[in-house]
Amino acid sequence: MKISGRTFVISGGASGLGRACARDIVSQGGAAAILDLNPDNGQALVNELGSSSAKFFETDVADTESIASAVKGIAEWVKTTGKPLGGIIPAAGVGRPGLILDKSLQPASLEAINFVIDINLRGTLDLVRQCLPLLAVTEPHGADKERGVIVMVASSAAFEGQMGQVAYAASKGAVASMTLPMARDLSRFGIRVVTIAPSMFDSAMTAVMSDKVRLGLQKAMEFPARAGQPEEFSSLVKQVIENVMLNGVVIRLDGATRMPSKL
Ligand SMILES: NC(=O)c1ccc[n+]([C@@H]2O[C@H](COP(=O)([O-])OP(=O)(O)OC[C@H]3O[C@@H](n4cnc5c(N)ncnc54)[C@H](O)[C@@H]3O)[C@@H](O)[C@H]2O)c1
Repeated sequence: MKISGRTFVISGGASGLGRACARDIVSQGGAAAILDLNPDNGQALVNELGSSSAKFFETDVADTESIASAVKGIAEWVKTTGKPLGGIIPAAGVGRPGLILDKSLQPASLEAINFVIDINLRGTLDLVRQCLPLLAVTEPHGADKERGVIVMVASSAAFEGQMGQVAYAASKGAVASMTLPMARDLSRFGIRVVTIAPSMFDSAMTAVMSDKVRLGLQKAMEFPARAGQPEEFSSLVKQVIENVMLNGVVIRLDGATRMPSKL
């Protein structure tokens, strides 16, 4: 898939890994539909990237009506720019750590579990689901007649969740698991599906970690022994978009880090 002349829908696009993708895509001649809860960051990014190549849609991916209204707006916007959809990058995500059972025998709250699953898993599926009818009718590209690519975001926690990460690991494990069946469902439309599973990357999500947690994670790293940079994530997304042979796979982006049981 070519980036130039195509629009990519990026949820969580106003910060961190999603924002790096928006910047890369626009720098390659593509357009970014930025869906996020945070209007200040979203608008600041549009100001930076230019309103002909980026548009902000205030969206809560946990709310199906909110996604529907963003998708309607995107359909209208791509008509005016002449840049049809080329892909979907559902990067909105949250963590809310909590033990499944704490020392005082209090089980994790269902509210906290639902919060994480609704955004990371249900929000990913719902955004993809609602964008697909638009993507599936685009003019196919190249000899392979490709229509687009979905790049989902899992995490190392999909494989080695740490203490307190049961809900997060459940949401990211499910994202990893749905990669292959989704690729199989969509192959007839010329749409590929790839998931990236990053380890610790610098972003607003990890900026709130205590020094103890951050240093503990750094000790578990092989090489390089540092957090990944958002640009290192977006550079893999660019390769995924451009390389038609990448499909139905979960790619770990972690410098050989395997999360330990305890920090
Ligand atoms: N940073 C890491 O170390 C790391 C590691 C593995 C996976 N991830 C995953 O990468 C993705 C991006 O995270 P990040 O590190 O860039 O974090 P971030 O906090 O910098 O960005 C996440 C963005 O998602 C938005 N968001 C949150 N809830 C939303 C909702 N309901 N609807 C719409 N937007 C919402 C936030 O406003 C924010 O702009 C997430 O799915 C996260 O789980 C991050």
